[in-house]
Amino acid sequence: MLKNLLYTALLLTFFGCSNSKNECESEQVNPNGESELALLMRDLHQNTLEIKNYLFLNDSIENNLNSNLIDEFKSNYQSIKTANPTESNLRDDGIYNGYADLYINSVDKFLNDKSQKNYNSMVTNCIQCHQQFCLGAIGKINKLYYKK
Ligand code: HEC
Repeated sequence: MLKNLLYTALLLTFFGCSNSKNECESEQVNPNGESELALLMRDLHQNTLEIKNYLFLNDSIENNLNSNLIDEFKSNYQSIKTANPTESNLRDDGIYNGYADLYINSVDKFLNDKSQKNYNSMVTNCIQCHQQFCLGAIGKINKLYYKK
C-alpha cells in the first residue's frame, strides 16, 4: 500500500517535471504569430466564461445573448480536433485526441442539459488535457468553475 503510494508520488513528480516545460500561455513569444489552436482556445475560454455568467450568474445583457452565445460555442468546440497547433506533432501519439474526445463528449452532455454539474465537468475536462499539454493556462481555466 505504502509502496504503491510512493510509486504514484514518484510518477506524478516525474510527469509533473517533464511537463512543466510545456508553458503555453500567450507570454510565449512566437515569431510565427499565434497558432490557430491557441486562438481557438482563447475563444473557447471566452465562450465558456460568458455561458457561465449568463446561465448561472444572471449577467444577461440582451435577451438573445443566450442563443448567440451557444451558437458560437457550438461552432468552436469541435475544432479542437482540427485547428493547427503551435507544436506540429501535438496529435501524433493520440493522447491529445483522447483528451479532446473526452472534452467534446462532456460539451455534448452539457448542451443536452445545461446544468451546473455538466458545466463544471466541461471545465474539468479542459483542465485534464491541460495537465498533460499546457500547464500555464490552468490557473485561468480554474476560474471558470461555477462555485455556489
Ligand atoms: C485536448 C486538449 C485540450 C483541451 C480539452 C483544452 N485545451 Fe486549452 N490548450 C491545449 C493546448 C495543446 C494548448 C496550446 C495551443 C497552442 O499553442 O497551439 C492550449 C492553450 C490554451 C490557452 C492559451 C492560449 C494562448 O493564449 O496561447 C488557453 C487560455 C486555453 N487553452 C484554455 C482552454 C479552455 C478554457 C478549455 C476548455 C474550454 C481548454 N483550453 C481545453 C489543450 C487543450
